[in-house]
Amino acid sequence: MSRVNFGPKTWLFPEPALVIATYNEDGSVDAMTAAWAGVCQETPPGVMIDLAADHRTTANIRRTKAFTIAIPTVDTVVPTDYFGIVSANKEPRKFEKSGLTARKSENVDAPIIEEYKMVLECKLFDEFVIKKTSASSGKSLTSRRTNRF
Ligand SMILES: Cc1cc2nc3c(=O)[nH]c(=O)nc-3n(C[C@H](O)[C@H](O)[C@H](O)COP(=O)(O)O)c2cc1C
Repeated sequence: MSRVNFGPKTWLFPEPALVIATYNEDGSVDAMTAAWAGVCQETPPGVMIDLAADHRTTANIRRTKAFTIAIPTVDTVVPTDYFGIVSANKEPRKFEKSGLTARKSENVDAPIIEEYKMVLECKLFDEFVIKKTSASSGKSLTSRRTNRF
């Protein structure tokens, strides 16, 4: 079978589309979409996310040492897309404009977006910088789901 050589690429499929939620400095909510993420450890449960240095989310996680990861379903496709194309650095009302609602996690200093059925509550465990991106390893404290999942 003949194959085409595309050169070095990050093409691993399927990629997830997850939503990382954090608190801004003024206490408002931010959320961004992340595809470069996955499980990195079993005990304690650990996940890794790879974030560009200039995202608001990256600054928020460095400050609060916490974040949540929401797993989208069909009914949250539109806001999940929106969270990936608008930055809170440019749109201070980013989360408000999504029309979604959030409440504070009881376990970490990060918001839980109510409309997502499964949410991991994570504390920043470690960070290492690869060129301009920052990989954050979060220890997942709890996984929550609603009965609608
Ligand atoms: C489907 C999709 C996947 C994305 N995955 C990542 C990712 O893994 N890492 C990253 O740094 N940015 C990723 N982005 C880009 C950020 O979501 C985007 O720049 C966002 O506006 C950052 O928001 P913030 O500045 O409010 O944190 C992705 C965008 C989309 C649409």
